[in-house]
Amino acid sequence: AKKVTISTLDKMKAAGEKFVCITAYDATFARLVSEAGAETILVGDSLGMVLQGHDSTIPVTIQDMEYHTRSVNRAAPHSLVIADLPFMTYSDSTQAMTNATRLMQAGAQMVKMEGGVWLSDTISALVERGIPVCAHLGLTPQSVNAFGGYRVQGRTPKEAKSILADAVEIQDAGASLLVLECIPAELASDISAKLDIPVIGIGAGAGTDAQVLVMHDLLGLSDHQPRFVENFMAGAGNVQDALKAFVTSVKDGSYPREEHSYT
Ligand code: KIV
Ligand code: NA
Repeated sequence: AKKVTISTLDKMKAAGEKFVCITAYDATFARLVSEAGAETILVGDSLGMVLQGHDSTIPVTIQDMEYHTRSVNRAAPHSLVIADLPFMTYSDSTQAMTNATRLMQAGAQMVKMEGGVWLSDTISALVERGIPVCAHLGLTPQSVNAFGGYRVQGRTPKEAKSILADAVEIQDAGASLLVLECIPAELASDISAKLDIPVIGIGAGAGTDAQVLVMHDLLGLSDHQPRFVENFMAGAGNVQDALKAFVTSVKDGSYPREEHSYT
């Protein structure tokens, strides 16, 4: 199969075809994710939790992200590789340019950052210089201490309005993709319909253009399964089949269901 690019994803959104993202942090799993037909792979800073055993993503460093991005890039012939800029490595445009360069040179084709309006100058600076950006709104885990815990965002009209405004702003600044995490399904659906750029949801209902899950969650390996996670290993004989089941379920609309969504 041909390498997926941002124009592939734009065309899929325009055609109403769902696409899939799965996290991977090493070559073996990147290969399996790519072979399962996921259009995109996220080298997520969730590796701080699932690989390193921390209770948040805050301890993850740019060196950690470079190491895992290199490993993934060697084994993802088909999928678009997105890498997370970790906590406080993009606090201003200059710092973001330096650190995004490191991830791009490690093999990422796009970088992801948590934030909205405050990131718009940074997003423009990166995009003008040839670095595509995925923004991340809703429950942004790097802000867990500011939120006072991992909780669903956008439940009050005020919060919902501000997430929508952030989404429009990051699109105007030049972002190519948006991740929405743990927000009510209706809000995610509205934002996906309003934006031209593809929106990837996690715990954001079935109305987004794509879905992402942390690999360890969808394989049923995590000690705590949040409401929005389905264990795709349960009905599969091996990891390959579980990854394929997730891909197929997103594409045919059988995941996520009502029970996986927030209202
Ligand atoms: O780090 C990560 O895996 C993520 C996804 C959960 C979207 O940011
Ligand atoms: Na992340």
